Amino acid sequence: MHFGFSDETLVLQETARRFAQEEIAPRAAEYDQSGEFPREVIQKAWELGLSSVMIPEEYGGAELDLVNSCVVTEELAWGCSGMTTSIMCNDLGLMPIIVGGSKDQKKEWLSACAEEFRMVSFCLSEPEAGSDVAGMQLLAEKDGDSYVLNGTKCWITNGGVSDVYTVFATLDRSSRHKGICAFVMNADMPGVSVGKKEDKMGQRASDTRVIHFDNVRVPASQRLGQEGEGFKIAMKTLDTTRPSIGALAVGIARRALDESVAYAKERKAFGFPIAGFQAVQFMLADMAKDIEAARLLTLQSAWMIDQGLRASKHSSFAKCFATDTAMRVATDAVQVFGGNGYTKEYPVEKLMRDAKLMQIYEGTNQIQRLVISRELLKE
Ligand code: CAA
Repeated sequence: MHFGFSDETLVLQETARRFAQEEIAPRAAEYDQSGEFPREVIQKAWELGLSSVMIPEEYGGAELDLVNSCVVTEELAWGCSGMTTSIMCNDLGLMPIIVGGSKDQKKEWLSACAEEFRMVSFCLSEPEAGSDVAGMQLLAEKDGDSYVLNGTKCWITNGGVSDVYTVFATLDRSSRHKGICAFVMNADMPGVSVGKKEDKMGQRASDTRVIHFDNVRVPASQRLGQEGEGFKIAMKTLDTTRPSIGALAVGIARRALDESVAYAKERKAFGFPIAGFQAVQFMLADMAKDIEAARLLTLQSAWMIDQGLRASKHSSFAKCFATDTAMRVATDAVQVFGGNGYTKEYPVEKLMRDAKLMQIYEGTNQIQRLVISRELLKE
Protein backbone atom coordinates (compact mmCIF):
# COMPACT_ATOMS: atom_id res chain seq x y z
CA MET A 1 0.00 0.00 0.00
CA HIS A 2 1.27 3.46 -0.77
CA PHE A 3 -0.38 6.85 -0.63
CA GLY A 4 1.54 8.74 -3.31
CA PHE A 5 0.12 9.98 -6.60
CA SER A 6 1.67 9.04 -9.94
CA ASP A 7 3.46 11.71 -11.99
CA GLU A 8 0.45 11.84 -14.34
CA THR A 9 -1.90 12.46 -11.44
CA LEU A 10 0.34 15.22 -10.09
CA VAL A 11 0.31 16.97 -13.49
CA LEU A 12 -3.46 16.68 -13.67
CA GLN A 13 -3.78 17.99 -10.11
CA GLU A 14 -1.59 20.98 -10.95
CA THR A 15 -3.64 21.73 -14.09
CA ALA A 16 -6.89 21.65 -12.12
CA ARG A 17 -5.38 23.68 -9.27
CA ARG A 18 -4.20 26.40 -11.63
CA PHE A 19 -7.56 26.50 -13.37
CA ALA A 20 -9.33 26.83 -10.01
CA GLN A 21 -7.01 29.63 -8.89
CA GLU A 22 -6.99 31.57 -12.15
CA GLU A 23 -10.38 30.96 -13.75
CA ILE A 24 -12.82 29.82 -11.08
CA ALA A 25 -11.99 31.49 -7.75
CA PRO A 26 -11.77 35.07 -9.13
CA ARG A 27 -15.32 34.78 -10.56
CA ALA A 28 -16.93 32.81 -7.74
CA ALA A 29 -18.38 35.76 -5.80
CA GLU A 30 -19.79 37.39 -8.94
CA TYR A 31 -21.67 34.26 -10.06
CA ASP A 32 -22.76 33.55 -6.49
CA GLN A 33 -24.38 36.95 -6.40
CA SER A 34 -25.97 36.92 -9.86
CA GLY A 35 -26.98 33.25 -9.84
CA GLU A 36 -26.15 33.17 -13.55
CA PHE A 37 -24.68 30.14 -15.23
CA PRO A 38 -20.94 30.58 -15.96
CA ARG A 39 -20.99 28.93 -19.39
CA GLU A 40 -17.58 30.18 -20.55
CA VAL A 41 -15.85 28.91 -17.41
CA ILE A 42 -17.52 25.51 -17.72
CA GLN A 43 -16.67 25.30 -21.43
CA LYS A 44 -13.04 26.23 -20.71
CA ALA A 45 -12.88 23.43 -18.14
CA TRP A 46 -14.14 21.02 -20.80
CA GLU A 47 -11.59 22.30 -23.33
CA LEU A 48 -8.81 21.69 -20.78
CA GLY A 49 -10.03 18.11 -20.27
CA LEU A 50 -11.44 18.75 -16.78
CA SER A 51 -15.09 17.91 -17.55
CA SER A 52 -16.77 14.75 -18.91
CA VAL A 53 -13.52 13.10 -17.88
CA MET A 54 -14.80 9.54 -17.56
CA ILE A 55 -15.80 8.95 -21.20
CA PRO A 56 -13.82 5.85 -22.29
CA GLU A 57 -10.92 6.38 -24.71
CA GLU A 58 -12.69 4.07 -27.15
CA TYR A 59 -15.29 6.82 -27.60
CA GLY A 60 -12.83 9.69 -27.75
CA GLY A 61 -12.73 10.54 -24.02
CA ALA A 62 -9.93 10.83 -21.47
CA GLU A 63 -11.18 7.76 -19.52
CA LEU A 64 -9.88 9.06 -16.22
CA ASP A 65 -10.31 6.58 -13.43
CA LEU A 66 -12.30 7.69 -10.41
CA VAL A 67 -9.23 8.43 -8.26
CA ASN A 68 -7.97 10.91 -10.86
CA SER A 69 -11.45 12.32 -11.35
CA CYS A 70 -11.71 12.91 -7.58
CA VAL A 71 -8.31 14.64 -7.53
CA VAL A 72 -9.57 17.03 -10.23
CA THR A 73 -12.89 17.59 -8.47
CA GLU A 74 -11.27 18.50 -5.14
CA GLU A 75 -9.06 21.10 -6.82
CA LEU A 76 -11.91 22.68 -8.79
CA ALA A 77 -14.18 22.78 -5.73
CA TRP A 78 -11.52 24.75 -3.86
CA GLY A 79 -12.31 27.52 -6.36
CA CYS A 80 -16.12 27.28 -6.32
CA SER A 81 -18.30 24.28 -5.57
CA GLY A 82 -21.26 25.65 -7.54
CA MET A 83 -19.23 25.77 -10.76
CA THR A 84 -17.68 22.39 -9.91
CA THR A 85 -21.12 20.83 -9.47
CA SER A 86 -21.94 21.96 -13.01
CA ILE A 87 -18.67 20.58 -14.33
CA MET A 88 -18.97 17.29 -12.47
CA CYS A 89 -22.62 16.66 -13.23
CA ASN A 90 -21.69 16.07 -16.86
CA ASP A 91 -20.05 12.86 -15.69
CA LEU A 92 -23.07 12.04 -13.51
CA GLY A 93 -25.34 12.53 -16.54
CA LEU A 94 -23.13 10.38 -18.76
CA MET A 95 -22.65 7.58 -16.22
CA PRO A 96 -25.98 5.76 -16.94
CA ILE A 97 -24.81 5.43 -20.57
CA ILE A 98 -21.44 4.07 -19.43
CA VAL A 99 -23.13 1.72 -16.93
CA GLY A 100 -26.15 0.57 -18.95
CA GLY A 101 -25.73 1.59 -22.59
CA SER A 102 -25.13 -0.78 -25.52
CA LYS A 103 -22.03 -0.42 -27.69
CA ASP A 104 -24.05 1.45 -30.33
CA GLN A 105 -25.58 3.80 -27.77
CA LYS A 106 -22.15 4.53 -26.28
CA LYS A 107 -20.75 5.19 -29.74
CA GLU A 108 -23.55 7.59 -30.55
CA TRP A 109 -23.91 9.53 -27.30
CA LEU A 110 -20.50 9.33 -25.60
CA SER A 111 -18.56 10.09 -28.79
CA ALA A 112 -20.71 13.15 -29.44
CA CYS A 113 -20.03 14.45 -25.92
CA ALA A 114 -16.29 13.80 -26.31
CA GLU A 115 -16.15 15.52 -29.69
CA GLU A 116 -17.84 18.78 -28.83
CA PHE A 117 -18.81 20.67 -25.70
CA ARG A 118 -22.15 19.35 -24.49
CA MET A 119 -23.78 19.59 -21.10
CA VAL A 120 -25.57 16.52 -19.74
CA SER A 121 -28.13 16.16 -16.93
CA PHE A 122 -29.06 13.18 -14.78
CA CYS A 123 -32.85 13.31 -14.41
CA LEU A 124 -33.84 11.13 -11.47
CA SER A 125 -35.51 13.14 -8.67
CA GLU A 126 -39.15 14.11 -8.72
CA PRO A 127 -41.32 16.43 -6.64
CA GLU A 128 -42.76 13.45 -4.72
CA ALA A 129 -39.83 11.06 -5.10
CA GLY A 130 -36.45 12.37 -3.99
CA SER A 131 -35.05 9.83 -1.54
CA ASP A 132 -37.56 7.18 -2.63
CA VAL A 133 -36.37 6.58 -6.18
CA ALA A 134 -38.65 3.53 -6.62
CA GLY A 135 -41.66 5.77 -5.95
CA MET A 136 -41.14 7.81 -9.13
CA GLN A 137 -44.22 8.84 -11.08
CA LEU A 138 -42.86 9.88 -14.49
CA LEU A 139 -44.66 7.41 -16.72
CA ALA A 140 -43.20 5.71 -19.82
CA GLU A 141 -45.98 4.14 -21.88
CA LYS A 142 -44.94 1.75 -24.62
CA ASP A 143 -46.43 2.69 -27.99
CA GLY A 144 -45.14 0.68 -30.96
CA ASP A 145 -41.42 1.18 -31.25
CA SER A 146 -41.27 4.07 -28.80
CA TYR A 147 -42.16 5.15 -25.29
CA VAL A 148 -44.27 8.18 -24.47
CA LEU A 149 -43.09 10.00 -21.35
CA ASN A 150 -45.30 12.12 -19.11
CA GLY A 151 -44.41 13.69 -15.78
CA THR A 152 -42.01 16.02 -14.02
CA LYS A 153 -38.43 15.85 -12.77
CA CYS A 154 -36.99 18.34 -10.32
CA TRP A 155 -33.68 19.46 -8.77
CA ILE A 156 -32.01 18.74 -12.08
CA THR A 157 -28.48 20.12 -12.12
CA ASN A 158 -27.66 21.87 -15.44
CA GLY A 159 -31.33 21.27 -16.37
CA GLY A 160 -31.72 24.58 -18.21
CA VAL A 161 -28.38 24.46 -20.01
CA SER A 162 -28.00 20.81 -20.95
CA ASP A 163 -28.02 19.37 -24.46
CA VAL A 164 -28.57 15.76 -23.37
CA TYR A 165 -30.62 14.18 -20.58
CA THR A 166 -30.48 10.72 -19.07
CA VAL A 167 -33.99 10.17 -17.74
CA PHE A 168 -35.55 7.57 -15.48
CA ALA A 169 -39.23 6.69 -15.86
CA THR A 170 -41.58 3.92 -14.78
CA LEU A 171 -43.60 1.57 -16.97
CA ASP A 172 -45.92 0.83 -14.07
CA ARG A 173 -46.02 2.90 -10.90
CA SER A 174 -47.20 -0.04 -8.79
CA SER A 175 -44.15 -2.20 -9.59
CA ARG A 176 -41.78 0.24 -7.87
CA HIS A 177 -38.11 -0.44 -8.70
CA LYS A 178 -38.94 -3.35 -11.03
CA GLY A 179 -40.82 -1.05 -13.44
CA ILE A 180 -38.15 1.60 -13.93
CA CYS A 181 -36.40 2.21 -17.28
CA ALA A 182 -33.54 4.52 -18.19
CA PHE A 183 -33.44 6.59 -21.38
CA VAL A 184 -31.04 8.95 -23.10
CA MET A 185 -32.41 11.81 -25.18
CA ASN A 186 -31.69 15.24 -26.55
CA ALA A 187 -32.95 18.05 -24.36
CA ASP A 188 -34.78 19.71 -27.26
CA MET A 189 -37.18 16.80 -27.86
CA PRO A 190 -40.75 17.97 -28.59
CA GLY A 191 -42.70 17.99 -25.33
CA VAL A 192 -39.72 18.70 -23.06
CA SER A 193 -39.94 22.04 -21.29
CA VAL A 194 -37.64 23.53 -18.71
CA GLY A 195 -39.31 25.01 -15.66
CA LYS A 196 -38.26 27.57 -13.15
CA LYS A 197 -34.70 27.95 -12.01
CA GLU A 198 -34.34 27.38 -8.28
CA ASP A 199 -33.21 30.43 -6.30
CA LYS A 200 -30.84 28.50 -4.06
CA MET A 201 -29.14 29.35 -0.77
CA GLY A 202 -25.74 28.16 -2.03
CA GLN A 203 -23.98 26.72 -5.08
CA ARG A 204 -25.80 29.46 -6.96
CA ALA A 205 -23.62 29.17 -10.07
CA SER A 206 -25.12 25.76 -10.85
CA ASP A 207 -28.36 25.79 -12.81
CA THR A 208 -31.00 23.75 -10.97
CA ARG A 209 -34.35 23.22 -12.70
CA VAL A 210 -37.69 21.53 -12.89
CA ILE A 211 -38.18 19.69 -16.21
CA HIS A 212 -41.59 18.78 -17.61
CA PHE A 213 -42.19 15.87 -19.99
CA ASP A 214 -45.43 16.23 -21.91
CA ASN A 215 -46.06 13.34 -24.34
CA VAL A 216 -42.35 13.08 -25.13
CA ARG A 217 -41.91 10.29 -27.67
CA VAL A 218 -38.59 8.48 -27.19
CA PRO A 219 -37.53 5.72 -29.62
CA ALA A 220 -37.01 2.34 -27.92
CA SER A 221 -33.45 2.42 -29.30
CA GLN A 222 -32.76 5.14 -26.70
CA ARG A 223 -33.67 2.95 -23.73
CA LEU A 224 -30.55 2.10 -21.72
CA GLY A 225 -30.50 -1.55 -20.63
CA GLN A 226 -33.59 -3.72 -20.53
CA GLU A 227 -37.07 -2.74 -19.35
CA GLY A 228 -37.01 -2.72 -15.55
CA GLU A 229 -33.23 -2.26 -15.29
CA GLY A 230 -33.39 1.49 -14.78
CA PHE A 231 -33.35 1.39 -10.97
CA LYS A 232 -30.16 -0.65 -10.85
CA ILE A 233 -28.55 1.58 -13.48
CA ALA A 234 -29.38 4.57 -11.27
CA MET A 235 -27.99 2.88 -8.12
CA LYS A 236 -24.79 1.78 -9.87
CA THR A 237 -24.40 5.31 -11.21
CA LEU A 238 -24.74 6.78 -7.73
CA ASP A 239 -22.30 4.23 -6.25
CA THR A 240 -19.79 5.51 -8.80
CA THR A 241 -20.42 9.21 -8.45
CA ARG A 242 -20.81 9.56 -4.66
CA PRO A 243 -17.02 9.52 -4.08
CA SER A 244 -16.89 12.60 -6.34
CA ILE A 245 -19.27 14.34 -3.97
CA GLY A 246 -16.82 13.44 -1.20
CA ALA A 247 -14.04 15.06 -3.24
CA LEU A 248 -16.14 18.15 -3.84
CA ALA A 249 -16.77 18.45 -0.12
CA VAL A 250 -13.06 18.07 0.64
CA GLY A 251 -12.39 20.94 -1.78
CA ILE A 252 -14.83 23.22 0.08
CA ALA A 253 -13.39 22.23 3.46
CA ARG A 254 -9.79 22.74 2.32
CA ARG A 255 -10.65 26.23 1.09
CA ALA A 256 -12.31 27.00 4.44
CA LEU A 257 -9.18 25.84 6.28
CA ASP A 258 -6.84 27.83 3.99
CA GLU A 259 -8.89 30.97 4.51
CA SER A 260 -9.02 30.39 8.28
CA VAL A 261 -5.27 29.85 8.64
CA ALA A 262 -4.48 33.02 6.66
CA TYR A 263 -7.00 35.09 8.59
CA ALA A 264 -5.91 33.75 11.99
CA LYS A 265 -2.32 34.83 11.30
CA GLU A 266 -3.39 38.31 10.31
CA ARG A 267 -6.29 39.17 12.63
CA LYS A 268 -5.28 40.53 16.02
CA ALA A 269 -7.15 40.35 19.34
CA PHE A 270 -5.84 41.41 22.75
CA GLY A 271 -2.75 42.67 20.89
CA PHE A 272 -1.81 39.32 19.29
CA PRO A 273 -2.70 37.40 16.11
CA ILE A 274 -5.59 35.08 16.98
CA ALA A 275 -3.52 32.16 15.60
CA GLY A 276 -1.59 32.41 18.88
CA PHE A 277 -4.63 31.41 20.94
CA GLN A 278 -5.20 27.78 21.72
CA ALA A 279 -8.96 28.17 21.23
CA VAL A 280 -8.31 28.98 17.55
CA GLN A 281 -5.41 26.56 17.15
CA PHE A 282 -7.57 23.62 18.25
CA MET A 283 -10.30 24.56 15.79
CA LEU A 284 -7.74 24.67 12.96
CA ALA A 285 -6.27 21.34 14.09
CA ASP A 286 -9.69 19.67 14.09
CA MET A 287 -10.44 21.06 10.64
CA ALA A 288 -7.15 19.74 9.22
CA LYS A 289 -7.55 16.30 10.81
CA ASP A 290 -11.10 15.80 9.56
CA ILE A 291 -10.24 17.00 6.05
CA GLU A 292 -7.42 14.46 5.87
CA ALA A 293 -9.73 11.65 7.00
CA ALA A 294 -12.42 12.73 4.52
CA ARG A 295 -9.90 12.75 1.67
CA LEU A 296 -8.64 9.27 2.58
CA LEU A 297 -12.16 7.81 2.68
CA THR A 298 -12.97 9.48 -0.62
CA LEU A 299 -9.89 8.18 -2.40
CA GLN A 300 -10.31 4.73 -0.89
CA SER A 301 -13.86 4.41 -2.19
CA ALA A 302 -12.79 5.75 -5.60
CA TRP A 303 -9.93 3.25 -5.69
CA MET A 304 -12.30 0.38 -4.83
CA ILE A 305 -14.54 1.33 -7.74
CA ASP A 306 -11.52 1.57 -10.04
CA GLN A 307 -10.64 -2.00 -8.97
CA GLY A 308 -14.12 -3.17 -9.97
CA LEU A 309 -15.13 -3.88 -6.36
CA ARG A 310 -18.69 -3.26 -5.20
CA ALA A 311 -18.41 -0.14 -3.09
CA SER A 312 -21.93 0.97 -2.11
CA LYS A 313 -20.98 1.12 1.58
CA HIS A 314 -17.66 2.85 1.02
CA SER A 315 -19.14 5.36 -1.44
CA SER A 316 -21.69 6.23 1.22
CA PHE A 317 -18.97 6.45 3.91
CA ALA A 318 -17.13 8.95 1.71
CA LYS A 319 -20.16 11.00 0.71
CA CYS A 320 -21.56 11.17 4.21
CA PHE A 321 -18.35 11.75 6.17
CA ALA A 322 -16.80 14.24 3.75
CA THR A 323 -19.95 16.34 3.38
CA ASP A 324 -20.63 16.40 7.14
CA THR A 325 -16.97 17.44 7.51
CA ALA A 326 -17.36 20.23 4.95
CA MET A 327 -20.38 21.59 6.79
CA ARG A 328 -18.60 21.53 10.16
CA VAL A 329 -15.34 22.97 8.83
CA ALA A 330 -17.09 25.76 6.89
CA THR A 331 -19.16 26.63 9.98
CA ASP A 332 -16.00 26.72 12.11
CA ALA A 333 -14.32 28.92 9.50
CA VAL A 334 -17.11 31.46 9.95
CA GLN A 335 -16.46 31.23 13.70
CA VAL A 336 -12.73 31.88 13.24
CA PHE A 337 -13.59 34.97 11.19
CA GLY A 338 -16.08 36.13 13.86
CA GLY A 339 -18.40 38.96 12.79
CA ASN A 340 -16.44 39.43 9.56
CA GLY A 341 -17.14 35.83 8.64
CA TYR A 342 -20.86 36.50 8.70
CA THR A 343 -20.60 39.16 5.98
CA LYS A 344 -20.34 38.81 2.23
CA GLU A 345 -17.10 40.81 2.22
CA TYR A 346 -15.26 37.67 3.32
CA PRO A 347 -15.32 34.33 1.49
CA VAL A 348 -16.34 31.95 4.28
CA GLU A 349 -20.10 32.59 4.51
CA LYS A 350 -20.38 31.39 0.88
CA LEU A 351 -18.50 28.22 1.79
CA MET A 352 -20.95 27.56 4.61
CA ARG A 353 -23.97 28.07 2.32
CA ASP A 354 -22.37 25.92 -0.38
CA ALA A 355 -21.47 23.14 2.03
CA LYS A 356 -25.07 22.71 3.20
CA LEU A 357 -26.18 21.40 -0.18
CA MET A 358 -23.54 18.69 -0.02
CA GLN A 359 -25.41 16.99 2.82
CA ILE A 360 -28.58 16.95 0.71
CA TYR A 361 -27.87 16.15 -2.94
CA GLU A 362 -26.84 12.81 -4.44
CA GLY A 363 -28.71 11.14 -1.62
CA THR A 364 -29.19 12.91 1.69
CA ASN A 365 -26.79 11.89 4.44
CA GLN A 366 -29.70 10.09 6.09
CA ILE A 367 -29.98 7.95 2.92
CA GLN A 368 -26.21 7.30 3.07
CA ARG A 369 -26.62 6.01 6.62
CA LEU A 370 -29.48 3.82 5.41
CA VAL A 371 -27.28 2.35 2.65
CA ILE A 372 -24.44 1.75 5.13
CA SER A 373 -26.63 0.10 7.76
CA ARG A 374 -28.38 -2.11 5.17
CA GLU A 375 -25.02 -3.31 3.87
CA LEU A 376 -23.82 -3.95 7.43
CA LEU A 377 -26.89 -5.96 8.34
CA LYS A 378 -26.66 -7.92 5.08
CA GLU A 379 -23.08 -8.85 5.98
N1 CAA B 1 -26.20 -1.58 -6.98
C1 CAA B 1 -26.90 -2.58 -7.61
N2 CAA B 1 -28.15 -2.94 -7.22
C2 CAA B 1 -28.70 -2.30 -6.17
C3 CAA B 1 -28.04 -1.27 -5.49
C4 CAA B 1 -26.73 -0.92 -5.91
N3 CAA B 1 -26.03 0.04 -5.31
N4 CAA B 1 -28.83 -0.81 -4.48
C5 CAA B 1 -29.95 -1.52 -4.54
N5 CAA B 1 -29.89 -2.44 -5.55
C6 CAA B 1 -30.89 -3.44 -5.95
C7 CAA B 1 -31.28 -4.31 -4.75
O1 CAA B 1 -30.39 -5.41 -4.62
C8 CAA B 1 -32.68 -4.74 -5.13
O2 CAA B 1 -32.56 -5.72 -6.16
P1 CAA B 1 -33.57 -7.01 -6.30
O3 CAA B 1 -34.90 -6.48 -6.71
O4 CAA B 1 -32.91 -7.83 -7.35
O5 CAA B 1 -33.60 -7.63 -4.94
C9 CAA B 1 -33.24 -3.50 -5.84
O6 CAA B 1 -32.10 -2.77 -6.31
C10 CAA B 1 -34.06 -2.61 -4.91
O7 CAA B 1 -33.23 -2.20 -3.85
P2 CAA B 1 -33.79 -1.67 -2.46
O8 CAA B 1 -34.83 -2.60 -1.96
O9 CAA B 1 -32.61 -1.39 -1.58
O10 CAA B 1 -34.50 -0.30 -2.89
P3 CAA B 1 -35.24 0.83 -2.04
O11 CAA B 1 -36.46 1.24 -2.75
O12 CAA B 1 -35.37 0.39 -0.62
O13 CAA B 1 -34.25 2.11 -2.19
C11 CAA B 1 -32.45 3.62 -1.66
C12 CAA B 1 -32.95 2.17 -1.90
C13 CAA B 1 -31.00 3.41 -1.22
C14 CAA B 1 -33.22 4.37 -0.60
C15 CAA B 1 -32.47 4.40 -3.01
O14 CAA B 1 -33.80 4.73 -3.37
C16 CAA B 1 -31.62 5.67 -3.00
O15 CAA B 1 -30.41 5.60 -3.22
N6 CAA B 1 -32.21 6.86 -2.75
C17 CAA B 1 -31.50 8.14 -2.82
C18 CAA B 1 -31.63 8.75 -4.18
C19 CAA B 1 -30.53 9.71 -4.53
O16 CAA B 1 -29.39 9.55 -4.16
N7 CAA B 1 -30.87 10.73 -5.30
C20 CAA B 1 -29.91 11.65 -5.77
C21 CAA B 1 -30.36 12.31 -7.01
S1 CAA B 1 -29.06 12.83 -8.05
C22 CAA B 1 -28.50 14.30 -7.47
O17 CAA B 1 -28.79 14.74 -6.41
C23 CAA B 1 -27.53 14.90 -8.42
C24 CAA B 1 -27.23 16.30 -8.25
O18 CAA B 1 -28.00 17.19 -8.50
C25 CAA B 1 -25.85 16.65 -7.89
